[in-house]
Amino acid sequence: MLGLNNEIQSLYDSILTKYKEAIILQTASSILHWDMETKMPPRGIELRSQQLSVLELAGHKVITNPQNGRLLDSIEKHPNKYFLSNQQVRNLYLFKKVYDENTKLPDSLVSETAKQQTISINTWKKAKAAKDYNIFKEDLKKIIELKLEAAEILMDVKGTKTPYDALLDSYESKMSAEKINRIFNIMKKGLIEVINKINDSEKKINTEILEIKVPVNDQKKISQILMDYLGYDILSGVAGGRLDETEHPFTTGYYDDVRITTHYYEDKFTSSFYSVLHEGGHALYNQNIPKEYMYQPLGEASSYGIHESQSRMIENLIGRSPEFVSYILPNLKKIIGKPFKGIKLRDFYEAVNVVSPSKIRVEADEVTYGLHIIIRFEIEQMIFNGEASIEELPQIWNQKYFDYLGVQIENDSEGIMQDTHWASGLFGYFPSYALGNIYDGMFYKKMKRDIPKFKKVIKSGNFIPIKQWLKNNIHSKGNLYDPEDLIKLVTGENLTVKPYLEYLERKFSKIYNF
Ligand code: CO
Repeated sequence: MLGLNNEIQSLYDSILTKYKEAIILQTASSILHWDMETKMPPRGIELRSQQLSVLELAGHKVITNPQNGRLLDSIEKHPNKYFLSNQQVRNLYLFKKVYDENTKLPDSLVSETAKQQTISINTWKKAKAAKDYNIFKEDLKKIIELKLEAAEILMDVKGTKTPYDALLDSYESKMSAEKINRIFNIMKKGLIEVINKINDSEKKINTEILEIKVPVNDQKKISQILMDYLGYDILSGVAGGRLDETEHPFTTGYYDDVRITTHYYEDKFTSSFYSVLHEGGHALYNQNIPKEYMYQPLGEASSYGIHESQSRMIENLIGRSPEFVSYILPNLKKIIGKPFKGIKLRDFYEAVNVVSPSKIRVEADEVTYGLHIIIRFEIEQMIFNGEASIEELPQIWNQKYFDYLGVQIENDSEGIMQDTHWASGLFGYFPSYALGNIYDGMFYKKMKRDIPKFKKVIKSGNFIPIKQWLKNNIHSKGNLYDPEDLIKLVTGENLTVKPYLEYLERKFSKIYNF
């Protein structure tokens, strides 16, 4: 008996050793990526792309090693497999998923897709600069065809109903288009109702405060205050973080080395302000997954949507709350000085929460953001169900922007070509952003109940109880659960958009007096 248990333990350990090797290669790639965006001199690009592709291939080989398949088989058939703990079973399940996905896709398809991605991104950049969709459409079509081919294979591996569901599953496991449609349709109705009430409101918000010139040096001091607030350490001798500057802010890293970036605009200081909070939220998640899961499949986030819920929780639900704004304003006045003298709390709070339907997703406010995502989700389904041709896409896009947001798209660069995701082949990714908001509505409702004097805590600048709540309920779970199971576990409820819509209604009815 003991012998058999030792045997299954050693099979299990062999699998984890493989995974550790793969994850170490992956973290090396991410640091090279980070360096490419922050420090690399321009001429470094040729060597860098070689380094990245060698690392990627090495990682692919570690995962697809046929020995892994045999190890997984031996465990599956082992009479003592029932002695494995739940955590071990989950690790094996996650490993098998990665193994199956990587081995079932033909190498030729993988390398052709990688090549086409580079080409499509390149033509997308050119087409966007020239505001000419015609330059882009053939390469968009090619990347869609390759993704569809992969999705059809993955559909079998993952057991999804449609190819598009297989793509969704890569970002949000077990989430189907059917489920997302059900909640997005409710969200769409709810958001449009709130927007209509805001449009009918007499209230006009003055946003001039947001354009006050704040020197980059002052903005750096503000970043430090925000990171101190979050307890995201970039300064001490035992720091596990960094802040650097890039064109587009992002977070990268693993456990003890998790880095964030921001972008400073002198005449739009809130851009970096909210980026630091957003990326800080991502960083805390990566840093707070339990050490015992390190190098294991469990040592990762539950999903892209759950990750996004952590960044948006800090950026929006906390960072744009009246309590947080009231805590931070005196700090801003101290740093910025004269230009900020006399700024009233109410005015600043309203300015950072202004709602205004726009054409560009990344500039969208809390209320209209979800509609930008719904438009992309609806179009992705049409593409993968064969309901829309490449030619028709800009037309469909523009019509939806007019119908849902009431904005008129003037050219395809501010329309269908605004995001890089489709050029990069990232179909199925967009819903995660809005799901993050929906998850947040549910988490927030529970958190408010669990933390005594919730508002007072935020107002006093004490982030510890919130951080602890997020750690206990979400970060500490690593990848033990698929997103819907995690939500149920944390909130006791099935996925619902209601708390999120209630949050928006409550908040914006006070701002816009409806
Ligand atoms: Co994010």
